[in-house]
Amino acid sequence: MLFEKYRLVAMPPARWAELIVDEEKCDGCGRCAKACPVQLLEVKNKVSKSNERYDVFRCLTCENCSAVCPQNALTIEKDYRVPQGFWKNEHLFKGTKTFPAPFGMKKGEDFEDYKDELTGVEQVIYQRRSNRLFRKKQVAPEIINRIIEAGRFAPSAGNNQPWKFIVVQNQDVLEELKLKSKKTLRFFSKLCIPESWMDKKTPGDKNADLKRWQKILLWILVWFVGGDADQRAHGGLNAVTSDPDFHLFFNAPAMILFLADKRAIGGTDLDLGICAQNMVLTAHSLGLGTCYVDLITKALDYDRKFRKKLGITYPFKIVTSLAIGYPKGKIDGIVRREQPRVKWIG
Ligand SMILES: Cc1cc2nc3c(=O)[nH]c(=O)nc-3n(C[C@H](O)[C@H](O)[C@H](O)COP(=O)(O)O)c2cc1C
Repeated sequence: MLFEKYRLVAMPPARWAELIVDEEKCDGCGRCAKACPVQLLEVKNKVSKSNERYDVFRCLTCENCSAVCPQNALTIEKDYRVPQGFWKNEHLFKGTKTFPAPFGMKKGEDFEDYKDELTGVEQVIYQRRSNRLFRKKQVAPEIINRIIEAGRFAPSAGNNQPWKFIVVQNQDVLEELKLKSKKTLRFFSKLCIPESWMDKKTPGDKNADLKRWQKILLWILVWFVGGDADQRAHGGLNAVTSDPDFHLFFNAPAMILFLADKRAIGGTDLDLGICAQNMVLTAHSLGLGTCYVDLITKALDYDRKFRKKLGITYPFKIVTSLAIGYPKGKIDGIVRREQPRVKWIG
């Protein structure tokens, strides 16, 4: 058992999710490809396909592709399962993913059948999806202030209210943020991706493997960065850094950076998460779309000069960021999720 914890840290053999496309229904609009956070899809001969960039289908099973599809042409089958080694997770999941069932299975799985019986908050929670398709229209300052107000009333450890928000709507600064972040992240991608997967134009090499030094580095890194050493994270990192056209925050007209006072009581990351989610749910209830973009915060950690320019200075640290804007078409919708792990002590 102990030995298992030290094995197969880098690129463990895994069972990946599968993309099922109903070719009769798919009209090749490409919304799924744009909404995929790890850029796994492309449109070929007017039909969506998983692209050939990797030798495996590195799906996060977020099901955003199916949520944004106007034709209901896509399904993600199966899930990411690792049978052995450090990342073993097979034994941690029971059953298959299901749609929301707040009333148990009594009312069936069709959300529309029971939607009216849910509170407004529940309706937003179940339908909120990460939004990666934005209209150009800017979000008015009074709407952003209304959303921040919902964050202001979040609970926090010791009522420290450790948050600070930086709202970026200036297009030049957003561009700089995107370019600088991509450059920094590209460096990390090189550390953890097989060389032949780095160029988008090269289809995934089926026999690609990490170099020995990369495997050793990952083995050391995993003890410091935990889940950031997961192979799915690397797939995403590679996609967003090696594709020159990929926009790290999806051309969103505005970004909100979430900072925390490092000196606050308790875990500020949790405080900021709660605060941010208050804001996310408020934004979606107002018809806006949002997507957390942690990747830029990781990049900012390594760029002190730019952090200073943005106003991220002591005693604050960046915790996360949110892309925000008006959704292009219908994005929020119901998707399936794994069963919760619950232990009752009754
Ligand atoms: C803390 C956090 C960080 C995230 N960072 C990113 C990111 O950098 N890029 C991205 O496209 N999505 C990011 N996401 C969105 C997740 O990919 C998304 O929430 C997940 O796939 C589930 O999909 P859903 O939000 O549509 O339910 C992040 C989400 C969270 C909570």
